[in-house]
Amino acid sequence: MSKEYKRTLITTALPYTNGPVHIGHLAGVYVPADIYARYLRLAGRPVTLVGGSDEHGVPITLKARAEGVTPQDIVDRYHALIKKSFEGLGISFDVYSRTTSDIHSETASEFFSHLYENGQFIEKESMQLYDPEAGQFLADRYVTGECPHCHNPKAYGDQCEACGTSLNATDLINPHSAITGSVPELRPTRHWYLPLDRWEPALREWILEGHKEWKSNVYGQCKSWLDMGLQPRAVSRDLSWGVPVPVEGAEGKVLYVWFDAPIGYISNTKELYPESWQTWWKDPETRIINFIGKDNIVFHCIVFPAMLMAYGDNFQLPDNVPANEFLNLEGDKISTSRNWAVWLHEYLEDFPGKQDVLRYVLTANAPETKDNDFTWRDFQARNNNELVAILGNFINRVIVLTHKYFNGIVPAEGQLEDIDKAIYAEMDGLKKSLTDNLENFHFREALKDAMAFARAGNKYLQETEPWKVWKENPARVETVLNVCLQVCASLAVVMEPFMPFMSDKLSKILGLGKLSWDMIGSKPVAAGTTIGQPEFLFEKIDDATIQAQVDRLVETKRQNDIRNFKPAPVQAEISIDDFGKMDLRVGTVISCERVKKADKLLKFSINDGTETPRTIVSGIAKHYEPEALVGKQVIFVANLAPAKIRGIESQGMILSALNADGSLTVASPSTEATPGAQVK
Ligand code: MF3
Ligand code: ZN
Repeated sequence: MSKEYKRTLITTALPYTNGPVHIGHLAGVYVPADIYARYLRLAGRPVTLVGGSDEHGVPITLKARAEGVTPQDIVDRYHALIKKSFEGLGISFDVYSRTTSDIHSETASEFFSHLYENGQFIEKESMQLYDPEAGQFLADRYVTGECPHCHNPKAYGDQCEACGTSLNATDLINPHSAITGSVPELRPTRHWYLPLDRWEPALREWILEGHKEWKSNVYGQCKSWLDMGLQPRAVSRDLSWGVPVPVEGAEGKVLYVWFDAPIGYISNTKELYPESWQTWWKDPETRIINFIGKDNIVFHCIVFPAMLMAYGDNFQLPDNVPANEFLNLEGDKISTSRNWAVWLHEYLEDFPGKQDVLRYVLTANAPETKDNDFTWRDFQARNNNELVAILGNFINRVIVLTHKYFNGIVPAEGQLEDIDKAIYAEMDGLKKSLTDNLENFHFREALKDAMAFARAGNKYLQETEPWKVWKENPARVETVLNVCLQVCASLAVVMEPFMPFMSDKLSKILGLGKLSWDMIGSKPVAAGTTIGQPEFLFEKIDDATIQAQVDRLVETKRQNDIRNFKPAPVQAEISIDDFGKMDLRVGTVISCERVKKADKLLKFSINDGTETPRTIVSGIAKHYEPEALVGKQVIFVANLAPAKIRGIESQGMILSALNADGSLTVASPSTEATPGAQVK
């Protein structure tokens, strides 16, 4: 930070209300923003944390249509769910509003009108895709087709998710309407465009010259956009859901969702501070920080700043945009439509009282510089081996020992020895590094610094061994536990941004009152005061709990496989004579057993209607328990040339279906058939 600022306005990307919030949103945006806001508050620096729901856009209307409800029903449902679950996780928004509020449509409308009246738009007629069956234009996600860059067949009209390219609907090869599936036609329509090219020199100067300190992923993306050359961008759409375009003759047109949504940051600030909101947006001594995910970079670093410049009137541009990469889940891209996610509201239900564990894991594993993976095993390991074994263990031992030796009354400090002075010196060093990391948005590293206080405390206890010293030298134990309690107090402060729930419990036990950053490494626990009883701040998470979550994901994957199943293409045509050569028959399983040392094979003995049972070896051992098949009927190829498999002569082949999820189902007559009967 080059300059002293009076206040910081922190914005968080407004989540779309077409689904709940998941761990990807949290790790990318909300947890880091909350850490930063909480840190600034502790440091006594004025800060406002702004959030809210992004309630316009095509995905919401598509979802409403699919469910047969109104878009307003959809956004009401998810806004309420998202707001409540953010509260549950302790995201400390000063305001959490929504873009369907009156104040927002007024603000967004006024913003548009101001630009319109000042000649900041280009008005243009162009040919756009139109669905004659639905009787409407197909903007953005209303149309799917093949990506012209990577040939992904399921690209959307605004973006290809496979290669990340942003698209115009008319770029798609083979477009189809997402409403009716029909092939769209081209029709002329008028729209307003923001000429980004006009702002290119100013944007180059501001970002490429002025903000070399931005994260390299953010700076790099901006540079490549600017180097490609900016084009005018349409800021209106032919849709009915959105903020109406406030221009005469613009019936049936609304503001593009990416035009109105970022203005939501302003509307929400206005809602919070009806009198003083302008100070937070227009005073050069306000610093604005936008927390977003990497897919939002261009909108926050190029488009919205161009809008603010075009508006003028001293609107401040963001000082930093610490965008994160993506978090994956168990090796796979998180996806709302595929239900591949850990949903915040479900987590809060399944893990009551464990908000801090999720916050901790998402920060320790945050996708700050590259995409990262969340796995339930890692979640369990970090809880058990770090939070319980290191942090909880230290605090618990100190509190238990204080009760054991001193009835819970904080002992006096006494004479400090070298080892005592050393841990205070260590805390000073850690505080510097921690502060520095927080200031620079390096939250993973910052969390390591915070945990280092607990590691230092454990080491100190191990070396001073109060339980051994107690008999001979109780005065020394007074000093040691006084030092330990001061380390605990520092932990209550350094952990607050990351894990506010445990911090709150701990500071109540220690009687700390209002926390502040100055308390770190100082001695805020007064001798003679009585501390509270020990409480478990963290507890082990067992294998069964984790397995239940893993099982749920396995089931989701199975459901997705079934939903996305495409039957294999039909093979080359055969004649009736060809078919007639194949002798298919029904048989009854007399016995069935596993083939030794072959984990895929079962050996069947089958009653095929003749005197001698037929032996068939079949590769279905992964899918069936042999006992379960005895007595069942199967269909087999009776005239297949015999083959030796693992030394057993197999006299035929049992038919089974290969399912979407990779499982096998043995084909069987639907009612009892005569063994040996031919299947025709
Ligand atoms: N709703 C968008 C998304 O989830 C983010 C909007 S951020 C705002 O990607 F700035 F436009 F509000
Ligand atoms: Zn593509």
